[in-house]
Amino acid sequence: MCDGKVYTLWKPLVDRLRQGSPVITLTGGEEAKSLPTARRLWKKLWQYRLDKGQAVLLVGGGSLLDVGGFCAATWKRGVPFISLPTTFVAQIDAAIGGKTGINFKGGKNLIGTYAQPLAILSYEGFLKTLPVREVRAGWAEAIKHALLAGGALWEKLKRAPLSELPTTELLAELAAVKTHIARQDPYEEKSLRFLLNLGHTLGHVWETLSLRTENPLLHGEAVAIGLLQEGYLSLPPSDLQELWKLLQKAGLLNPLPPFSWKDWEKALLQDKKIREGKLWMPVLRGIGQAEVSPVSIEALRKATRWYRQEVQP
Ligand SMILES: NC(=O)c1ccc[n+]([C@@H]2O[C@H](COP(=O)([O-])OP(=O)(O)OC[C@H]3O[C@@H](n4cnc5c(N)ncnc54)[C@H](O)[C@@H]3O)[C@@H](O)[C@H]2O)c1
Ligand SMILES: [Zn+2]
Repeated sequence: MCDGKVYTLWKPLVDRLRQGSPVITLTGGEEAKSLPTARRLWKKLWQYRLDKGQAVLLVGGGSLLDVGGFCAATWKRGVPFISLPTTFVAQIDAAIGGKTGINFKGGKNLIGTYAQPLAILSYEGFLKTLPVREVRAGWAEAIKHALLAGGALWEKLKRAPLSELPTTELLAELAAVKTHIARQDPYEEKSLRFLLNLGHTLGHVWETLSLRTENPLLHGEAVAIGLLQEGYLSLPPSDLQELWKLLQKAGLLNPLPPFSWKDWEKALLQDKKIREGKLWMPVLRGIGQAEVSPVSIEALRKATRWYRQEVQP
């Protein structure tokens, strides 16, 4: 299964890898993570009589890996798959940790399962053809990883030229943050893995609300907004300034999509549990000091207003 754009750009390489096996291409992007796409993929697996003695090779970004991994993981209760992430986001995040899934009724990742690939083969050469905007979206998830890790990685990111591709070394270090966390908490049973949702509580709100507009935000762009707004909730002022500066340098402080507070709240509460008027989510006490904590809807609304008034261009 290959992202259509990737297949066009990297045909000789992908053809060499698949060694005569049939190729199923699909259009990348968030729309790929849908039931109709999953149905199409299952149908192909049925046509090709795929069984457990074979494996599916997934070549693409997070969208393709999420939907393709989900189809492989559910076909005949699971056939092996190998992931070849082709985007910055996928190489440091989406390909790692075994979460697969699709969106449903406007909600992100509502249907899915955990399934580990046989292998993840990360070839950074793929990133050379990535559009600038996708590279920027990758830096958003990179900043999230560095916020969780803190220390030397945070310092490295502050110095990194964010308009360029990451170095091989940095790419590996960023991927290691995700691997390290996912390995310790593979099924998100402890709060550790839940910390990877930093910036995603409000990030998913902006992603959902912008999907209805003409110019939807990319997942990473939405997460960048979420990171700063959620940082505003709990970070000491000097750390907040550092984060603000870094996101600005990366060109990630996009304006919020137009929204009504009613839709905002609906998107916020879509798949989350509220206990005593509070939402449990990752917050930052400092750079490298994330913890899960209860946050009121009112505080999230205040952070949203602050971003709209003080931050966005
Ligand atoms: N499962 C997880 O743990 C996890 C983690 C993070 C993100 N995700 C998901 O990943 C998705 C985002 O993934 P993404 O950012 O990789 O985007 P994507 O897969 O949608 O790809 C983005 C665009 O880049 C194109 N593309 C891909 N590789 C390319 C290349 N090498 N050269 C040129 N163009 C290329 C695609 O065709 C697409 O148009 C979101 O749905 C998000 O929820 C999942
Ligand atoms: Zn993400």
